[in-house]
Amino acid sequence: MHYHIPVTSTPKHAPILLVHGGAWAIPADAAAAHLAGVRNALETGHTILARGGSALDAVEAAVTVLEDDPIFDAGRGSFLTSDGRVQLDALLMDGGRMKAGGVACVERLRNPIQAARLVLEKSPHVYFVGSGAEQFAHSHGMALIDNAELVLDRERERLTHAQAREAAGLADLTFSGHILHDDKSPETAFLHDPARFASHDTVGAVALDAHGNLAAATSTGGTLNKPPGRVGDSSLIGCGCYADNLSAAVSLTGWGEPIMKLVLGKWATDRVAGGTAPEIAAREAISYLYSRLGGHGGIILLGPDGRFGLAHNTPAMAWGVATPNGLQTGLTV
Ligand code: GLY
Repeated sequence: MHYHIPVTSTPKHAPILLVHGGAWAIPADAAAAHLAGVRNALETGHTILARGGSALDAVEAAVTVLEDDPIFDAGRGSFLTSDGRVQLDALLMDGGRMKAGGVACVERLRNPIQAARLVLEKSPHVYFVGSGAEQFAHSHGMALIDNAELVLDRERERLTHAQAREAAGLADLTFSGHILHDDKSPETAFLHDPARFASHDTVGAVALDAHGNLAAATSTGGTLNKPPGRVGDSSLIGCGCYADNLSAAVSLTGWGEPIMKLVLGKWATDRVAGGTAPEIAAREAISYLYSRLGGHGGIILLGPDGRFGLAHNTPAMAWGVATPNGLQTGLTV
């Protein structure tokens, strides 16, 4: 029998952290807040990596910052369910130990990514949902809060608007700051797709630490006006998040159902394991998402050798990369 022992103790890698704050048509008046948010997350996660901390700690810390920032669809400030509540999903994965932890449909946790970490560390299982997930987290020290603490007036208004348009049978084809061009590109198709308002701002991070270990984390409030109990790609292993030292670490954002049907995170990491460079595999994954199912979204993908790729077929994706050479953020790649 052949055993693989992952490298866990030889400090030989330059640490790298990538984060995203969602792929969609980020309006001009929200651009600065998105860039500031991904920079804050980068700084927090990179500080951990720079002092020799683990990739898992770095992605958890980075995503916690993004969950705490109300500009993103994760944690407080997330989109609301059709009955006006916040329901959160999150997953993180340690590619060195091949351990994962996920939670879905939690309503009383401020930071679902921290509950996912508890599942990874404290449970023989991988995935908890609903009140069972909340009770598991609470039994390991996490505070249970009132769901109203996660709900913003901004989101109540957004839900009211979406439900009024749905009731009127309207697909909203206007969007601030964007001109709809008459071409056949995925970006233009996105702007004509009524689902775009429900497909943004999921957050995520992938990291490689100095010991050569990969980790990934993804967290979301899901889609606007979703029925209670709906779970998207973000917290499903191999869909919106995956990490394995033998392939790559990945986090995705976008309309979840097509990503789930393609198990797109695992698809992308398998490509890297097969020899495709992450910068190519990232673009191929988003092309596949669109060509196979007409899906829209974005991806960050990091290989065990430190090569990485970012791609999206939406008009924008908030992203950031931290390497020993410095921090970089942007809204398109
Ligand atoms: N990508 C987030 C969701 O569809 O729930």
